[in-house]
Amino acid sequence: MNTYEIIELTVNDLRKCESFWDNDGSDDDSRLAGLMKCGERKAFAYMTGGDYVGGFAVSIRNNESGKYGHFSYFSVRSDLRNNGIGSRILDFAAEYLRKNGIKAMRLNVYKDNPSAIRLYERNGFKYAEDITPEKIAMIKAL
Ligand SMILES: CC(C)(COP(=O)(O)OP(=O)(O)OC[C@H]1O[C@@H](n2cnc3c(N)ncnc32)[C@H](O)[C@@H]1OP(=O)(O)O)[C@@H](O)C(=O)NCCC(=O)NCCS
Repeated sequence: MNTYEIIELTVNDLRKCESFWDNDGSDDDSRLAGLMKCGERKAFAYMTGGDYVGGFAVSIRNNESGKYGHFSYFSVRSDLRNNGIGSRILDFAAEYLRKNGIKAMRLNVYKDNPSAIRLYERNGFKYAEDITPEKIAMIKAL
C-alpha cells in the first residue's frame, strides 16, 4: 500500500473506478464524463498494487481574485480510508496546480461531513463561504 502512483484518467478509464466512484449511470457520473470530454475537468486516480482505489477531479476556473483550481469528486475506497491516501491525494492536487501556475485551491464540502472538513483543515484549507444551506466552500493558498 505504500507504493502508489497517481495517474490522469481518460473517459474510458472511468469504469475502472467503480470501487470509489459509484459509476451507477447517475447524472453525476455522466456529468464528470461530459466535463472531461470537453476538457473542462481532468480526473485522476490513486493506484496501488494495480488497483484503482481513490480519485479526484480538478478544473481551473476564474473568479474576481483570479485563477484557482477547483477540486472535486474526492473519494477513497471505503475499506482503505484512514490510511493517509486522502492526504496524499490533496498534496498531489496542490502540487499539480502549483506546477500549472495556480495560486489557490478551492473545494465544496457538505457541512455534515465533519471528517472531510477536519482533513481539509489539517491540510491548510480555511472556510471561504456558504454555497448552499448545506454546503460550504473552503480555500487554501498554494
Ligand atoms: C474524505 C476521504 C476522501 C478521505 O480519504 P482518506 O484516505 O480516509 O484520508 P486520510 O486517511 O488522509 O485522512 C483521514 C483520517 O485518517 C487519519 N489517518 C491518516 N493516515 C493515517 C494512518 N497512517 N493511520 C491512521 N490514521 C490515519 C487522518 O488523521 C484522518 O483522521 P481524522 O479525519 O479523524 O482527523 C474519504 O473519507 C472518503 O472517500 N469519504 C467519502 C467521500 C467524501 O466524503 N468525499 C469528500 C467530499 S467533499
